Amino acid sequence: MEVKQNNWKVPWSGRGHDFTQEEIAVVVEAMNNADPLTQGRYQVEFEKKFASKFGLKSAFAINTCASALELSAVLCRIKPGDEVIIPAHTFAVSAIPFARRGAKIKWADIDSNTFLASRKTIEPLVTSKTKAIVVVHLYGAACEMTPIMELAKAKNILVVEDVAQAIGAKHNNQFVGSFGDLSCFSFHTHKNMTTLGEGGMLSVRSPDLQKVTPGFRHNGMRPFTNQEEYWKPAMTNVDFDWENEWPYNYCIGEVQCALGAKLLDRFESMNEKRVTRAVRFKSELSAYSEMKFQEVPNGSTTISHLMPARYSGENFGKSRDDLMKLLAFEFGIKMAVQYLPLYRYDMFKRAGFAEAHCPETDYYFDRMVSFPFHYGMSDDQFEYMLDSTKKALRMLRG
Ligand SMILES: Cc1ncc(COP(=O)(O)O)c(C=O)c1O
Repeated sequence: MEVKQNNWKVPWSGRGHDFTQEEIAVVVEAMNNADPLTQGRYQVEFEKKFASKFGLKSAFAINTCASALELSAVLCRIKPGDEVIIPAHTFAVSAIPFARRGAKIKWADIDSNTFLASRKTIEPLVTSKTKAIVVVHLYGAACEMTPIMELAKAKNILVVEDVAQAIGAKHNNQFVGSFGDLSCFSFHTHKNMTTLGEGGMLSVRSPDLQKVTPGFRHNGMRPFTNQEEYWKPAMTNVDFDWENEWPYNYCIGEVQCALGAKLLDRFESMNEKRVTRAVRFKSELSAYSEMKFQEVPNGSTTISHLMPARYSGENFGKSRDDLMKLLAFEFGIKMAVQYLPLYRYDMFKRAGFAEAHCPETDYYFDRMVSFPFHYGMSDDQFEYMLDSTKKALRMLRG
């Protein structure tokens, strides 16, 4: 029997997690009391708590991780002709801000076991023009940062960490986001922690960049140095932090910040269900060698944000699409495929970034499936998905 697309037994939910009554009360309290409703005391509290929890030199709350990446490209002073190394296997916005500023994007391949870029895949792309490396901790797993940082230091290259999918993951006991020169975090609805659908954080290491980030985030606003009265020459000044580098408004509201600060109190337990389920899912399916799950790099941990896998059914004359069809239409599990290698997207092709040598990225993408793995999945749904996957794999073995 074919399952109708609107009748999934295991849907793909876009809701990262639920909220406790205490968290809802914090939101209501901020709604009633925040004055102003943006750029106030809740933001200061959220930033302080976030920086201290994840060992960051600074934290600037921001409306999205995409904006954090946009500001990173500005703060790295990317200019036309600079080269930026970015994994080809990531969400498009890891690359867009750097392309917008005229950088030449060099696509890094992934490791076939971790599905992540590594020093080995990055190093061959380094030239004298390399200005920055964007490291993406995908699916919840921390990249092997130590060798990447050693390479970057030796070559004087900036490192931007895209931590959108892996807040709280560690490499060598150190939180990701605390290695790079700049780090970008997301609290988007899908993520393990969300500030009501959108939200982000930008961390910058250097004190000089810390000074200019608030201006870039908020229209270049600052007090006049010659303020005569609080209304003279005007209420606030606007100015460039860097000559001719125009600022943005990427601010986030106080209610979101109040919630973000509160969520940090139970951050570890929010990840627990996903992590426990991921271990079980992978171990129960380990007998099926045609399924390859993400391996966590040496010394790294994962917050198990998503559950991707590579299906190699060639020995049985079967393809990834056979598995997708079976799980989706026979078993009613809304599987997904993520992400088209960026050089295969129309946008990057039209912008001149079609060129890449990323055989593992292509091999992986053409075989990849992503299981629904949202927090709100019931135990029954999880067991059903596990059982159905075993059945589907056996059916495909013939
Ligand atoms: C790897 C990665 N980077 C960046 C982003 C952008 O995050 P945001 O939606 O907060 O802008 C996302 C996801 O949404 C992502 O998965």
